[in-house]
Amino acid sequence: MKRSILMAAMLALAPALALAGDPRRDAILSDYAAEARRVDPAFAAFSAQRGETLFRSRWSGGDPRTPSCTACHTADPRQPGQNAKTGRPIDPVAVSANPRRFTDKATVEKHFMRDCKSVLGRECTPVEKGDYIAFMAGY
Ligand code: HEC
Repeated sequence: MKRSILMAAMLALAPALALAGDPRRDAILSDYAAEARRVDPAFAAFSAQRGETLFRSRWSGGDPRTPSCTACHTADPRQPGQNAKTGRPIDPVAVSANPRRFTDKATVEKHFMRDCKSVLGRECTPVEKGDYIAFMAGY
């Protein structure tokens, strides 16, 4: 009896938790916001729209096999991707399809470093990283 009440309470709570997001992801975004403000004190907020542009743009300067984030993560980030260099499958990167995304700072930093160099030919800025996460968290 007690157990079923607990279950019902947890089920009732689940949608609220999903909407509230993940505190680890929020902490990563706060870190990038602090870095962005250090570079530009006028920095106001991340933009999911700029994040989408970053994701979909074709860049030059990186590896010709990966002119865009979509080369591996596909045009629909809710779908599984495929690594354009190795052919290996990649789990979806949109948070709605994969709630574990952007919750581990070391993993996030490692992939931003490697993937931005591969696509843009340079590291992404703190603003670009925050915009990208804002887009993926809302998509
Ligand atoms: C060469 C293929 C490739 C390209 C191009 C690529 N990625 Fe990725 N990305 C990966 C792989 C592989 C993973 C990790 C696989 C997994 O976790 O399922 C990943 C994961 C990530 C993660 C970590 C997400 C998390 O928390 O789990 C971030 C951040 C990321 N990519 C950003 C980008 C951005 C920004 C671009 C475009 C500028 C981009 N990627 C383009 C292959 C790519």
